[in-house]
Amino acid sequence: PRKVTVAVIPGDGIGAEVMEPALGILEEIGPRHGLEFAWQHHGWSCEHYTRTGRMMPADGIDQLAGADQILLGAVGFPGVPDHVSLWGLLIPIRRAFRQYVNLRPVRLLPGIECPLRLREGEDIDFVVVRENNEGEYSEVGGRVYRGTEDEIAVQESVFTRRGVTRVARYALDLASSRRGSLASATKSNGIVHTMPFWDEVVHEVAAGYPGVEVADYHIDALAAQFVRDPGRFDVVVASNLFGDILTDLGAAMVGSIGIAPSGNLNPEKEHPSMFEPVHGSAPDIAGRGVANPLGMIWTASMMLDHLGHPEAGAELLSAVTATLTSGVRTPDLGGSASTGEVAEAVLEHLRDAAQQDDAGPA
Ligand code: NAD
Ligand code: IPM
Ligand code: MN
Repeated sequence: PRKVTVAVIPGDGIGAEVMEPALGILEEIGPRHGLEFAWQHHGWSCEHYTRTGRMMPADGIDQLAGADQILLGAVGFPGVPDHVSLWGLLIPIRRAFRQYVNLRPVRLLPGIECPLRLREGEDIDFVVVRENNEGEYSEVGGRVYRGTEDEIAVQESVFTRRGVTRVARYALDLASSRRGSLASATKSNGIVHTMPFWDEVVHEVAAGYPGVEVADYHIDALAAQFVRDPGRFDVVVASNLFGDILTDLGAAMVGSIGIAPSGNLNPEKEHPSMFEPVHGSAPDIAGRGVANPLGMIWTASMMLDHLGHPEAGAELLSAVTATLTSGVRTPDLGGSASTGEVAEAVLEHLRDAAQQDDAGPA
């Protein structure tokens, strides 16, 4: 078997609660596809911060660099300010390993009742390619000027030609391999000065892809079209903050933020990529055993894809779908099952599928 070293950062709250079942599921499916996982556990979290004054050790990035991939639950918990937990772990990892694509599928799975009223035969099946290293999430100029009556907070957005080019290229390649359509999220009506530059670079790159139809949407109108006409979208490319907001919206459109997956990808595979669900640590439901593990499990399936085992990824996603169709659901999807019961159902469907395989063609 191929040995794959995965750094595991369960993190805080439900991040840790959904990680455990996801690892069990990967242990089940890996060997069937020639993969043997070696887990490198890291207890880096807000609790770790409270003990040590750091979210991760000073050489945390070096420790992760030796892994093939990274799995993250979620970080952030009341008691530690979010800017500490996020700038102390999540954002540095995304940047150090040039995970400049945050790939976030928005797909309505069978077995889920869509909160939107879809037209006859309409599907929701698109992918948001979120720029993940720059844009509005910048450390440049971030400052609050205090000491006068008129306090002022400022922060620069940073868009580089290299940064926009590489994410646009990824999105265009993806659109070429899908239905040939790219929507670019923008705000170029002269209000946000960085966005005309974003448009300029996206269209320059797009000129090399005559087979892809590119449409610019103002971010506000795009949000409305997600809800009104989701079937039209194939690939959506967006800046860091726009992509963040669009993907919580996308998750809600396909049932629950509890099922939405994501991959922070270093497409060149020079560094580990990091796979984490779209959701956070959900302090409001943490500790009750009701978190939906399907977002983390679907995320694990994206890791299998990225490892070059799409057949394993697809098998895992089928088990997720089978679980949903069988009606085993957590409360966010209207059910009453626990985290563990949903994960157990996924495992059972995986084992059933494996048994059928072993039995061979009828
Ligand atoms: P959140 O995603 O944690 O929660 C939003 C809402 O969705 C809550 O009502 C929660 O109960 C629900 N929810 C989320 N995941 C669920 C699941 N798997 N099953 C069922 N319900 C689920 O977002 P938030 O409340 O804005 O943030 C909470 C904390 O998480 C903050 O500290 C934030 O910074 C952090 N956060 C971390 C990450 C990350 O590490 N990648 C991502 C988002 C938020
Ligand atoms: C996400 C999260 C993070 C982000 C936060 C917690 C910094 O919301 O992964 O979507 O905005 O990237
Ligand atoms: Mn988010």
